[in-house]
Amino acid sequence: MPYDFTSVPDRKNVGSFKYADMFERNPDVPDGIIPLSTADMEFYNAPEIREGLKEFIDHMVLGYTAGTDGFYDAVVDWMKRRHDYEIKKEWIAISDGVVPAIGDLIRCNSEEGDGILITSPVYYPFAASILANNRKVVDVPLLLTEHGYELDYDGIEAAAKEPSTKLMIFCNPHNPVGRVWTKEELEKILTICIENDVYIIDDEIHHDLIMPGYKHTVMATLRPDAGLHMAVCTAPSKSFNLAGMQTSSIIIECPERRKAFVGQREKSFRLMLNILGYEACRLAYTRCEAWLEECIDVIDSNAKYVEAFLKEHMPEIKAFPLEGTYLQWYDFSAWGLTPEALEQFMVKEALIFSDEGYVFGKTGEGFERLNLACPRSVVEATMDRLLAARNRCITL
Ligand SMILES: Cc1ncc(COP(=O)(O)O)c(C=O)c1O
Repeated sequence: MPYDFTSVPDRKNVGSFKYADMFERNPDVPDGIIPLSTADMEFYNAPEIREGLKEFIDHMVLGYTAGTDGFYDAVVDWMKRRHDYEIKKEWIAISDGVVPAIGDLIRCNSEEGDGILITSPVYYPFAASILANNRKVVDVPLLLTEHGYELDYDGIEAAAKEPSTKLMIFCNPHNPVGRVWTKEELEKILTICIENDVYIIDDEIHHDLIMPGYKHTVMATLRPDAGLHMAVCTAPSKSFNLAGMQTSSIIIECPERRKAFVGQREKSFRLMLNILGYEACRLAYTRCEAWLEECIDVIDSNAKYVEAFLKEHMPEIKAFPLEGTYLQWYDFSAWGLTPEALEQFMVKEALIFSDEGYVFGKTGEGFERLNLACPRSVVEATMDRLLAARNRCITL
């Protein structure tokens, strides 16, 4: 059944974080501009989720509720079916989001002052969570080579050997550079971490969003004991546009580490999730695979459209291949603007509300991230505004 990926939802004045951010950055933004920043989709949810939730509300009492067998079975089956990742129900620890889970995992797997590895440019809450918990950010930036972004194994190994380095927060697929790390790349990271007793917070929130031609491997499947060395952070929130449901499954195979994580949540009596979140997750994982497949094709074709448009009209802007996620990464450094000037250009001249590269770390300066989970008409209008503003304001 073909789904609707062309209607543009009206999210103005309904509490959408992305829209509020746009009006804060430019209160004069005219009607009809769609922001392409924060990672949720400008698509309506799958009809199976919308109808399923209506049906659910009609016969349920919305009281305190734990995850049902239906919820846990859906998670277990999804990981097996989509990712060839065989997990046991009892390995699943629920969380009201991956970012809150990262904070909990940091607190229960390290001490104040310990070092935590990240590879910038990377999703900015990683560094923010490390700092907020009084740990030390150990950044080993990705290498930008003629082949694109690569991991700096020597740097990661040297940092992992430091006795104070206790954790690595790893992003796969990588937000914002869009890489889906290969099996060989993952094997090297896993080996370094195991050899140096560095526990991995494996953020795989985007792992269902793999573009045609690429293959994602859950790091925990690399070898039989791999899962003992990591917490695999998963959720239907990116894949099915359910971020507002705040429901994620953190898969922790090691019983002691899992107990510590659950204990961390219990300290603040966060014992269960929102009842609608469990059901939305169950509906997504059991009924919405066809919607997801079509959604991936739309995102992939949006990325190809942008790449072709830039190549033809603004070849000085480099687009990085979108291997996974719906967030594409672009190098604007040929314009020679400071990060502040590039942001001003975007927000005031091009009326494009993207994520500025600098928020992902110093290594992101001069780059922009665009969210391509939106109807093609929105992407086309965004590119047209970018070209017009570039021709008006930029001297090459
Ligand atoms: C890599 C990554 N992790 C986590 C999140 C957010 O997770 P949650 O909304 O479940 O806290 C995002 C959202 O953009 C993300 O890109």
